[in-house]
Amino acid sequence: MTDQMQSFANKLVVVQLLVLFFLSIAIHSACTDDNKRESDKQLEDKASAIGIATEIDTLTGMALDENFELVRANCITCHSAKLITQNRATREGWKGMLDWMRETQNLHDLGENEGPILDYLAKHYSPENKGRRANLEDIEWYELESE
Ligand code: HEC
Repeated sequence: MTDQMQSFANKLVVVQLLVLFFLSIAIHSACTDDNKRESDKQLEDKASAIGIATEIDTLTGMALDENFELVRANCITCHSAKLITQNRATREGWKGMLDWMRETQNLHDLGENEGPILDYLAKHYSPENKGRRANLEDIEWYELESE
């Protein structure tokens, strides 16, 4: 090998090492990014499995999701959000409450927003998502002594 060829070969090795180095950094950061996304997702799945919303709006106390804004705009002008968050019902149950409010409490026509609003209510405030301790059952009450 001539000196010139030798020095070219050396440069080639250096360039290859550099490429490898940056490639490994790129791959590593891509992997850790994926891991992070995966664990966020797992957390969310766990949270929804045990019936707690991952995020709560601090002002209203209502669960945050893509339909939250609709519910906020339509549902808390007449009464507090508490009336919603303390209630639990199926989708049909919620539909019944909206019908009742429309018929007796002047609730406006929700139009095409009714579907997404019912989705939101049934998702976050269904009977399975317990907001508070369930009623006590099978209690043996005793009479208070009277004087
Ligand atoms: C036009 C005013 C108005 C709007 C808008 C309104 N409500 Fe009501 N809502 C009422 C009134 C009045 C009551 C009865 C309040 C009371 O009993 O103190 C009520 C009661 C409720 C109750 C309690 C029902 C029960 O059986 O105890 C829930 C839950 C509720 N509203 C949810 C909603 C939701 C969800 C929306 C949005 C779609 C909404 N409200 C929009 C007026 C309204």
